Amino acid sequence: MAQKFYIEDLNKHVGQSVELKGWVYNLRSSGKIKFLLLRDGTGLCQCVYFKGECDDASFEEFSKLTQETCVTVTGVVKEEKRSPGGYELSARTLKINAPSVDYPIGPKEHGPDFLLNNRHLWLRSKNQHAIIRLRAEIIKAIRDFFDGRGFTLVDAPIFTPSACEGTSTLFETEYFDEKAYLSQSGQLYMEAGAAAFGKVYCFGPTFRAEKSKTRRHLIEFWMVEPEVAFNDLYDNMELAEQFVEYIVQRVLKNKSEELKVLERNVEVLAKVKAPFPRLHYKEAAEIIFKENPQFKKGDDFGGTDETIISSKFEKPVFVHHYPSAIKAFYMKEDPSEPGSSMSCDLLATEGYGEIIGGGQREDDMIKLEAKVKEHGLKMEDFNWYFDLRRYGSFEHAGFGLGIERTVSWICGISHVRETIPFPRMYGRLRP
Ligand code: 4AD
Ligand code: MG
Repeated sequence: MAQKFYIEDLNKHVGQSVELKGWVYNLRSSGKIKFLLLRDGTGLCQCVYFKGECDDASFEEFSKLTQETCVTVTGVVKEEKRSPGGYELSARTLKINAPSVDYPIGPKEHGPDFLLNNRHLWLRSKNQHAIIRLRAEIIKAIRDFFDGRGFTLVDAPIFTPSACEGTSTLFETEYFDEKAYLSQSGQLYMEAGAAAFGKVYCFGPTFRAEKSKTRRHLIEFWMVEPEVAFNDLYDNMELAEQFVEYIVQRVLKNKSEELKVLERNVEVLAKVKAPFPRLHYKEAAEIIFKENPQFKKGDDFGGTDETIISSKFEKPVFVHHYPSAIKAFYMKEDPSEPGSSMSCDLLATEGYGEIIGGGQREDDMIKLEAKVKEHGLKMEDFNWYFDLRRYGSFEHAGFGLGIERTVSWICGISHVRETIPFPRMYGRLRP
C-alpha cells in the first residue's frame, strides 16, 4: 500500500508510489488525459490520469469531481518543472471522500462583502493562503527577535479594570458584579514586568471599539509590546528599528514564494535597514502643512498626512515629540521642551501608515498624577500602577507594533481585513 504524505514532502519521494489526501483545486481534461490540481494546505500538486495507465474506475470517477471535493489519490511522484511546486503525480487511483456541491467562491471576481461573509472558505484561496503564511512567519520572527535578546515573555491580562488608550474606544463587559474592559494594550502591565524582569514583551489580542470603517482599523487586533527598564526615547527608537529590520529581512529570506504570489515589490522591502530617518513632530507638521493646508499644527495626523510624510522617504520613518495634548496620559513630557511628549510613532513606507506607537513613560509620580486627572481618569483605577512609581521609580520606554498593519504593509495589501484569519470590524462579527 502507498504511504500517506503531504504535498510539501513530495521532493523526498521522487519515483515512489504515494497516497495524497486533499481537495480539488482545479480540473482539466482532454480526451484520454485528465488533470487534477490537488490542494492539501501544504501545497499544490498536479495529478495526471492517463486512460489505460490509471485504474479504469478512477478515470470514470473523475467526471464527478467539482471544486473542493475531498479526495484520496495514489500515484508515482515525478519531477515536473511546469507543475506548481515542481512535482507531479502519475496518478493510479482516485477516491472521492466527500462531495462539494456549488462551492461559492469561483474564479470570477467577488465583492469584498461576499468574500468576508465566506471568510471561512476564502482562506483556501491562493492569495489568502499566502497572506496568512506570511503572518505566521512575521509572528515567529517577532518572538525570535525578543527571545534571542534576553526578553522575558510576560502575558498581559485581557480583562482590565481601566483604560490605557483613552476611554472612547473601551469595550465594556460584565465581570461578575463589576464592569471590566477588554484590554486596549498590555503596556501598563509590561511596565510592572520591566521592573520585575528588566526586558519584557507581551503578545496578544487587543480590543478597541472603533466606530469607524477604515482600511487600518480592526476591533480586535494583535499587538506585540516590548518594555525595557532604563531605556529612554532614543534607545526605544533604536530597538524599534532593529526589530522592524529583523522582521522584514526574515520574511524576505524565508517567504519569497508567498511575496511573489502577492506580487509585492520586494525591492522596497530590501531597503528596510536600520537606521531609519527621524523627524521631530514640528518638522513633520511643516511638511504636511505644505501639501495639506487644512492640517492644523498641533493636531494628530490623519491617514493622508501620514502618506505625505512617508512618500518623502525610502525607509520607514519615525516621528517623535508629538504634542503631549494628543498623546496618552503615561507619556513623559520632555523636560527640555514643555508641551512635547517623549513619544515616537513609526510610519511604514508607501503610505501604509503608523505601525508602531510608543515612547518613554512618565516616571515622576506627581506629574503622572496630574496627567491622570487631566485625562479625566480615576486615580483609584491606577493605584497599583502608581506603586511602580512609589517603589523605585525608574526610567523606561516601550512600544506596541500592530501585527495586522505590519502584515498589510509587508504583503502590500491595502486593507487590514485580509491580514487576520477572521477579522472583527465595525459591523462585522461573523463568521
Ligand atoms: O499607538 P497605539 O494605540 O499604542 C499603544 O497601544 C501603546 N500602549 C503601545 C505601547 O507603547 N506599548 O497602538 C500601537 C499600534 C499602532 O501603531 C497600530 O499598529 C496598532 O497598534 N493599532 C491598530 N491596529 C489595527 N486596528 C486598530 N484599531 C489599531 N489601533 C492600534
Ligand atoms: Mg498610535
